[in-house]
Amino acid sequence: MSGDGVTGRGYRPHRRTPTAAVARGVERRFQIAGLFRHQVNKVFPWHFSFLWGEIALYSFVVLVGSGVFLTLFYVPSMDELVYQGSYVPTSGLEGSRAWISTMQLSIDVRGGLFVRQLHHWSALVFLAAVMLHMGRIFFTGAYRAPREINWFLGVAMLVLAIFEGYLGYSMIDDLLSGTGVRIFSGILLSVPVIGTWLHWLVFSGEYPGEIVVERFFIAHVLLIPAILAGLIVLHLAVVWYQKHTQFAGPPAGEGNVVGNRTLPVFSLHSVSMLLGVTGVLGLLAGVAQINPIFHYGPYNPTQVSNGSQPDWYALWLIGSLKLFPRVDIAVFGRYTVPAGFWAGVAIPLVLILLLLAWPLVDRLRTRDRELHNLLDRPRDDAARTAIGVMALTFWGVLTVAGADDIAATVFQIPLEGLRWAERGALLILPPLAYVITRRVCLRLQRSDRDALAGGVATGIVEETTEGTYRSVQQPFVGVDPEGGEHPPRYDGARIPKVPAREHAEGSS
Ligand code: HEM
Repeated sequence: MSGDGVTGRGYRPHRRTPTAAVARGVERRFQIAGLFRHQVNKVFPWHFSFLWGEIALYSFVVLVGSGVFLTLFYVPSMDELVYQGSYVPTSGLEGSRAWISTMQLSIDVRGGLFVRQLHHWSALVFLAAVMLHMGRIFFTGAYRAPREINWFLGVAMLVLAIFEGYLGYSMIDDLLSGTGVRIFSGILLSVPVIGTWLHWLVFSGEYPGEIVVERFFIAHVLLIPAILAGLIVLHLAVVWYQKHTQFAGPPAGEGNVVGNRTLPVFSLHSVSMLLGVTGVLGLLAGVAQINPIFHYGPYNPTQVSNGSQPDWYALWLIGSLKLFPRVDIAVFGRYTVPAGFWAGVAIPLVLILLLLAWPLVDRLRTRDRELHNLLDRPRDDAARTAIGVMALTFWGVLTVAGADDIAATVFQIPLEGLRWAERGALLILPPLAYVITRRVCLRLQRSDRDALAGGVATGIVEETTEGTYRSVQQPFVGVDPEGGEHPPRYDGARIPKVPAREHAEGSS
């Protein structure tokens, strides 16, 4: 069967299918098969936590696709017109063309509201996925050498993505977004020395001016997406080149990568992920209302609606403004720096710089200069995990504070009292979170060591010949029966603490 080019399994290497003809044609002209063969043989390890990056990637794809559709209808102009569209409650109200075009897009363009909601939900999910992805990178130590560069790129993308989202909902010029732009204007003005100049740069004069929506539009649809797309490609190229990290456990080690090849398994997983993410986002867009600008009405600088909230990823910035005491601090005895600067510029800047510098700070902390391809389990580095949970708690309190006016209304709590409680929580909870997390990690480490040294508890109690009782331990599964190292050394792999069935049932 093999003389005519047909293998025993019926495979015909020289089949004349159209795909084969195209492939042969390309190969004759460019000779790229060698390059391609190497790439499709690349291997990707599997763990559920590696999916956050992919979810971020695919929500970004949906963001760009839905954004292109919206750009066809949205008009970035602050010219004032009277809304005379089909939505009766706002008919006759004066608003900018930006707001009116978004109203028309939502109410009169077929599928317009769906795509607007798809775009907004994609932004929310994108940022959630990016933050979860960053969490997994942090808590497993994936940012350590040689992958620091991807951490730096990641922080840049995170900051850009938050700003991109802010610009997106700000350029609609409805009552909610105008309130956010007003806060931005105040923060710019609070910057010492160059504040008024910065304000002029963005608003081209006094607030609100006549141009800020156009400027936000150019940054939102052109500048930042292009930079983000470039950074994402670079980020993925670095992952591809440096290879993916993996958790320890036979046969995965520092010198190999264990997982699925690019073709066919990894690619199929990845395409399924793209379809799944698009489907879930489509479902959300279809059934869950988001940013109903027709309820808010057009922006009017003399009005602020009760309970104005930014998107969830920007709440921490508002929380910082709310919790910082209303004190203007004098610098060098001559210059008064307003509270808005400390809360709105200095604190976020310090937090972002700390995040950016983390791989370097960590290197100083651990004095670890090694290259790492194996991931830690979060318990393995108790101090790092505790620092991470402490930072998350700090950010969480700021985020909760960002929405505290809603909490005060819903739970009927006096707002001032709630705010003082949040200030207290911001100082007390993060160190508490550090202490508790560290202890939990150390306890988990001890439990692993105990399992390795003494075996796994089977739940069976034996009576000894002396009439005393003892709990039966099953030696750790990994122990070499030929007399390997005793007790076996912890190598970073998960330790299965469930006894083999025959021990659990007491039949051994
Ligand atoms: C625009 C947002 C982002 C996208 C689309 C993205 C996408 C990805 C993807 C698909 C991977 C490979 C799969 C995985 O490990 O999850 C990855 C790996 C990585 N990402 Fe991101 N990422 C983003 C943001 C970030 C951020 C904010 C950080 C950290 C600050 C970061 C740091 C890393 C690192 C260090 C790796 C290599 C991890 C490893 O090999 O285990 N990324 N990214």
